[in-house]
Amino acid sequence: MASAALLVLLALATMQAQTTSSEKETHLKVYWHDVVSGQDPTSVPVARAATTNTSKSAFGVVMVMDNSLTEGPSLDSSRLMGRAQGTYIAAGKDQLALLMLMNFVFTAGKYNGSSIAIVGRNAVFTEVREMAVVGGTGVFRWARGYAQARTHTLDLKTGDATVEYNIFIRH
Ligand SMILES: *[C@@H]1O[C@H](CO)[C@@H](O)[C@H](O)[C@H]1NC(C)=O
Ligand SMILES: *[C@@H]1O[C@H](CO)[C@@H](O)[C@H](O)[C@H]1NC(C)=O
Repeated sequence: MASAALLVLLALATMQAQTTSSEKETHLKVYWHDVVSGQDPTSVPVARAATTNTSKSAFGVVMVMDNSLTEGPSLDSSRLMGRAQGTYIAAGKDQLALLMLMNFVFTAGKYNGSSIAIVGRNAVFTEVREMAVVGGTGVFRWARGYAQARTHTLDLKTGDATVEYNIFIRH
């Protein structure tokens, strides 16, 4: 009886060790392009509150995005690495603070076919915004980690923005 329990414990300890030793840490950097203007926006409003237009923080607007993710900062000439698909919601009543819910879906390079899920608060006028990586698929199965977003360019006239995402993942 006692030895059976010991065997189970040993087996569990071995499994634990294998899980830990095969874990990898990956850092990736991509540029996220929020195009809200023009004839072919990749980020569109789908709902707003009656009070959204008069709110200084756009409180209540819900956007759906299918934004390009590129290797370098240029939307036109940098290599396309994937898409950021999901939604963001202006969830701050007094300060512009977005709730981001996104899948980064990779379509090129060594992560082609894999994805990561990001959820977090994005106070866009703060220099560095940190969000949680809550999971992933493909090579990013079991992923957890964090993403740091820094605005690269913001066109105040059109609202279009390019944001650098540095993502640190254990998987
Ligand atoms: C708010 O602004 C949008 C975009 O300018 C407009 O389409 C919409 O009708 C406005 N809504 C209200 C409630 O004023
Ligand atoms: C990504 O993977 C898909 C499916 O395997 C493949 O069809 C496609 O050519 C790949 N794209 C690149 C840029 O390697």
